[in-house]
Amino acid sequence: MNLILMGLPGAGKGTQAEKIVDKYGIPHISTGDMFRSAIKEGTDLGKQAKSFMDKGELVPDEVTIGIVRERLGKPDCKNGFLLDGFPRTIAQAEALENLLNDMNSKLDYVLHIDVPKEKLVDRLTGRRICPKCGATYHVEFNPPEVDGKCDVDGEALIQREDDQPDTVKNRLEVNMSQAEPLLNFYDEKGYLVTIDGDRDIDQVFSDIDDKLGKIS
Ligand code: AP5
Ligand code: ZN
Repeated sequence: MNLILMGLPGAGKGTQAEKIVDKYGIPHISTGDMFRSAIKEGTDLGKQAKSFMDKGELVPDEVTIGIVRERLGKPDCKNGFLLDGFPRTIAQAEALENLLNDMNSKLDYVLHIDVPKEKLVDRLTGRRICPKCGATYHVEFNPPEVDGKCDVDGEALIQREDDQPDTVKNRLEVNMSQAEPLLNFYDEKGYLVTIDGDRDIDQVFSDIDDKLGKIS
């Protein structure tokens, strides 16, 4: 199955992606994660991406499309993929259509996790992540079993650099202006499924799972 997860920053894309890939065994392709790994490794891509991410701006289309093109060309994407955080602009969506045509493939669903904007700031500023395995927690809504430590590997949890309150505000503004045309783009093509993301993590997943169970 070929899926896109859409939603504003903090809507729960990464959280739901972990559950979807666990159950359905498709690769999780998060452009944000790819940029963060590149920054950690100090590559040219990382250097390019960092200046945009630190301000909460989008990384330029040609850079982002390039890394997705390369990733989708890998053999593990032949039987499906979950794109998380891509596309974010119409240019990226059109580039993806061309890529899928070249692969003789097409989308199944674009899952839009919808959460009221006023909830997103708290979700983002309270988020903590594991630098080792990438697991996501929230100090209030999804705390680890032991305070400040990852449930999977015991690593000390950290805060993402772009989750500082000032950057969060700009990220939300930038993403809100891009989201509407993109949702219309996929709605017109009949791929869009809106999921109410303003509920417990497991309830949100249950809705997604119901939908995915219908793909033959
Ligand atoms: P990216 O990494 O994609 O970040 P984002 O879109 O801002 O999304 P987040 O990861 O912040 O949120 P999420 O929806 O995954 O929420 P999560 O599940 O963690 O992008 C980062 C940056 O990279 C961008 O700003 C840009 O610069 C660049 N970039 C990436 N892709 C790009 C592209 N295509 N083009 C250009 N630039 C690009 O949940 C958030 C918190 O809420 C967590 O603490 C979680 O535990 C909690 N939570 C989750 N679900 C619930 C729930 N149901 N109830 C209560 N709490 C919940
Ligand atoms: Zn971990």
